[in-house]
Amino acid sequence: MARKIIIDTDPGQDDAAAIFLALASPETLSVLGITTVAGNVPLARTSENARIVCEWAGKPETRVFAGCDAPMQRALVTAEHVHGKTGLDGPANLPKPKIALQDQHGVDFIIDTLRAEPAGSVTLCTLGPLTNIGTAFAKAPEIIARVAEIVMMGGAYFEVGNITPAAEFNIYVDPEAADIVFKSGCKLTVMPLDVTHKALTSPARVAALRDLGTTAGIAMADMLDFFERFDVEKYGSAGAPLHDPCVIAYLLRPELFDGRHINVMIETKSELTLGMTVADFWGVTDRTPNALFMQDVDADGFFALLTERLARL
Ligand code: BDR
Ligand code: CA
Repeated sequence: MARKIIIDTDPGQDDAAAIFLALASPETLSVLGITTVAGNVPLARTSENARIVCEWAGKPETRVFAGCDAPMQRALVTAEHVHGKTGLDGPANLPKPKIALQDQHGVDFIIDTLRAEPAGSVTLCTLGPLTNIGTAFAKAPEIIARVAEIVMMGGAYFEVGNITPAAEFNIYVDPEAADIVFKSGCKLTVMPLDVTHKALTSPARVAALRDLGTTAGIAMADMLDFFERFDVEKYGSAGAPLHDPCVIAYLLRPELFDGRHINVMIETKSELTLGMTVADFWGVTDRTPNALFMQDVDADGFFALLTERLARL
């Protein structure tokens, strides 16, 4: 039976790759719904983008719920400098989505779904700031024990920060929400920058997606051509890091990833290191491990999976 997941996301070109990967894998993953959050771009845009991606995937039946439009306690920080004005810059024209947003708020969808489905049967896949999950846990704490697992893109240890010298974007935008999640006691698997900076695009990898000749493959290649320029210019890296699809790839092929079960805490007070994932990688404290913190990925295997699955859409 396919594993039930909710994708919580702020598309984002790399979020789009993750959504494609999940929607292309129905025998393994049943996407109960997509909840959107303000992050890379404001909520109205992420909610529109999620629906565009579902249409490109040829899955207009996918339900998309708009969630929180601002972090739990702070002003929103966005990342148009990475993702472009729309969040999905790259394709010449972004279509207007035909599918409608669901009426229900994303947070209430998360709460109601966790209450309705058997305990331990729903996995939360988070690809953006953790506002929706933190809010849901604060509003209905009894759902925490019903979550099967949270698999998240967020944080960094050896790679330190990409939005400040100390913090990764998803955690930095809503550190209070991240703090709730890391202290929740849920089974937690984390894809930090340490992993995602190893899942880099290359001309050959993008060409393989474009050569699929499908709407999804061509849109993905167009998005990656745009997305790549930021990391190549800023970090001198070989290509663009495909952060968010690491979450879905882990659910499909966990053997592609390697990491350690460690304690991770979130800095919520310091101005200098706000949003840092303080990862006890070397076990220098006696703090109880609360997360499987990934460190490595088989990048060739990851891109082969992405290309093979996108070919199905
Ligand atoms: C994360 O931030 C966003 O820019 C990406 O979509 C990814 O989720 C990487 O730091
Ligand atoms: Ca994202």
